[in-house]
Amino acid sequence: MSGIKKIKGFADLFQPESGIFTYMEATARMLFGCYGYEELRIPIIERTELFSRSIGFETDIVQKEMYTFLDRKERSITLRPEATAGIIRAYIENKKYIQQDVTKLCSIGPMFRYERPQKGRMRQFHQINCECLGHIDSYTDAELIIMLIRFLESLDIRKFTLQLNSLGCKICRPPYKTILLTWLNQIDPMLLCDDCRRRKETNPIRIFDCKVPSCKHIMKDAPSLFANQCVDCSEYFSTVIRLLDHEEITYEINPHLVRGLDYYTRTTFEVVSTDIGSQCAIAGGGHYDGLIEQLGGPMLSGIGFACGMERLALLIPEREKPRLDVIVAALEEPAKDIAFSLALELRDAGLKSEWLFKTGSMKSLMRHVDKSRALYCLLLGSEELAVGEISIKNMDKNCQQQVPLADVITYILKDKEVH
Ligand code: HAM
Repeated sequence: MSGIKKIKGFADLFQPESGIFTYMEATARMLFGCYGYEELRIPIIERTELFSRSIGFETDIVQKEMYTFLDRKERSITLRPEATAGIIRAYIENKKYIQQDVTKLCSIGPMFRYERPQKGRMRQFHQINCECLGHIDSYTDAELIIMLIRFLESLDIRKFTLQLNSLGCKICRPPYKTILLTWLNQIDPMLLCDDCRRRKETNPIRIFDCKVPSCKHIMKDAPSLFANQCVDCSEYFSTVIRLLDHEEITYEINPHLVRGLDYYTRTTFEVVSTDIGSQCAIAGGGHYDGLIEQLGGPMLSGIGFACGMERLALLIPEREKPRLDVIVAALEEPAKDIAFSLALELRDAGLKSEWLFKTGSMKSLMRHVDKSRALYCLLLGSEELAVGEISIKNMDKNCQQQVPLADVITYILKDKEVH
């Protein structure tokens, strides 16, 4: 009978990847905690409407990439393609806005998008997501971007570009839309892909996010929202830039950056790397003014970002696997039970330990001991048991010592401290 294989675009993460993920999560929790972010765990599935209402009907995510199904009561359910919508749903549902002026939330976990899998692009991928919600301003935007850069630096990721744009507000968007449409009307519609011909009618700004090379080429010359934003948006963005400059954060202004989700207004950003191939966005986010209200909450704003953990993992230098402290090797059958119990005691004392029993030559047993990369090896044979002493080998120093069985743990803990 053939075995069952995992689904395309999904992955099993063993060491060292799983270790790198744990390291990223621990670094995120520590660093974001310093900025006042609290962890929130939200469901992996939500009602489909939550995503179509927030991410935007014309986006690739909603049009092509969601894992949507009907539950047993025929309700449409979707595996979350991103975390922002769920975080805001939880924020509104639990009335967090009543308790605090500003709520800072961090959420880590898997997301699902039905995209074509390739290096750095999975159908199940993981994000570290931060949202700052409530009464926020340009200082909040700058603080969140600085926090993201500090996070990447603390993971030892240094080669990246921060791209910034301002996507305007409800005042400057409508006149800009007219300017863009007038420009698009001069373009032969047949030069645009089918999707973009439709987008022109429904949400023309989305054309900037089209991945089709011919559309990308055409949109290079399109008028930008950045150049057509209102005075308020322009001043808001200048403050963000001034604060980033003060902290010596380097960035590029990309006036055509619109991102793949519709909810952004004002500050938007993406962090890209040149070292991981075509799927180069390692983090992205931005400010949103209407989203909380659109999802049934009060008129408050938010800013957030998400990092793609699979893509960050490609940039983190491989770390040395944590070593085993002790390997207890039983040389003969009678020593097997003692080795088993001793390993349990060593673990109770906080030492990472394994035990080993292999029949065969001493040479082959020592091969297994070497392979374990343990700091100490405890050799247990009938001779040792007869005298109640055990031979402890420090594998790095290649020296051996006889120690009474009862003193083994104290000896190792002391020696390890010196080591
Ligand atoms: P996003 O740009 O769609 O934004 O995703 C954020 C990051 O998730 C990307 O920069 C990328 O690193 C990673 N990512 C996206 N799709 C995949 C995939 N198929 N495979 C691997 N990694 C992927 C959002 O999701 C927004 N919710 C971010 C945000 C938070 N905006 C405001 N708050």
